[in-house]
Amino acid sequence: MLGQKVSYQVDLVTFLATETRAKLAVGCMRIDQVTSLSVTVQGLRGVVHAVRRTILVANRKGGVGKSSIVAAIAVLVAKAGKRVLVIDADPQGNCTQRDLGVRDGDNGKSLAMAIQYGQVLEPVRDVRPGLDVIAGGNLLSLATTIITSSSDHGIDPVANLSTSLTSLVDTEGYDLVLIDSAPGELQLLDVLLEIATWLIVPTKEDEASLDGAEKLAERYLRARKLGAIVELMGMVLFDCDPRATRRNASTFQTVHELLEGTGIAPFKSTIRHDKATSVDARRLHLTPAELATPQRKVEEVSDEDNDEPKKMWSRNPGPLAADHKQLTREVIGRLASGERAKEEA
Ligand SMILES: Nc1ncnc2c1ncn2[C@@H]1O[C@H](COP(=O)(O)OP(=O)(O)OP(=O)(O)O)[C@@H](O)[C@H]1O
Ligand SMILES: [Mg+2]
Repeated sequence: MLGQKVSYQVDLVTFLATETRAKLAVGCMRIDQVTSLSVTVQGLRGVVHAVRRTILVANRKGGVGKSSIVAAIAVLVAKAGKRVLVIDADPQGNCTQRDLGVRDGDNGKSLAMAIQYGQVLEPVRDVRPGLDVIAGGNLLSLATTIITSSSDHGIDPVANLSTSLTSLVDTEGYDLVLIDSAPGELQLLDVLLEIATWLIVPTKEDEASLDGAEKLAERYLRARKLGAIVELMGMVLFDCDPRATRRNASTFQTVHELLEGTGIAPFKSTIRHDKATSVDARRLHLTPAELATPQRKVEEVSDEDNDEPKKMWSRNPGPLAADHKQLTREVIGRLASGERAKEEA
């Protein structure tokens, strides 16, 4: 209107919402005489709840290496001097107890309370120097019940967890958050997909594991349609035989087909089959890289459960440790380039 002051409130609804993009879009609208322009960027749900630098490791099939990979990456990144938080969002609590050896966890109570009431998350501190853990365990099944009936009780599990986690990350200054997830617990998975910024999908080469990855992709796409900003970082082949080059190539082909259209390549790193080292790792609550440190290269080590010296089954944890190190490097590389791309978008 000529000569008059007009104020516009523009609400933009977009999946890949960034304020810069929204403002660019608004700039393209040829409106004269605008004195104030406020842009509300929102996903279809309204607000984006993802917590910065949070990697969810998930597959809807069990036994594909989710917990082992979370523990291995967490310990390596912490060893490199960064502050790391592991969230064990699995009622089995394997990552907490078996992989990282946390005995004084709360069986998932803190995580369940954060989901229900937005309560402060209480990590178990210094599980390794620089590494804290929000324990998993059977009390997490509470969370599933809460999420299922949340709308009846006016509870917003995503907002609650997002608020609690953001506050903890800000206070503690974590450089990285890694979430281990359960193969079932669909309701909890949907919440985690809204909290995470990145997704890593480990898979074995068998059809059931690849089916599990495909089922996960359905939930991932559903979450994105609802406004989640989680992005697939990659898929990683677990428990494979590095010498079976032709079979691995065929599995990679299947993984490529699964990823088609995402523009994401599977991780070059693979995690080899090594039952002996994985049995030692869980019994001694050490990651393969920790087992491979020089002082562990003795045949007899003390079992922390009963103080009796026990024989290590593994003769050489080094190659499996090297796989985890290579994967960790690749994850950190993709995280850095992904963050750059997001900033530029
Ligand atoms: N490199 C390896 N080779 C063979 N087995 C391994 C290897 N690494 C870990 N394992 C074992 O494989 C099993 C599955 O691994 P893990 O528990 O990490 O998978 P998961 O996806 O977290 O399983 P779940 O879905 O039950 O939580 C465990 O018994 C683990 O000790
Ligand atoms: Mg697990």
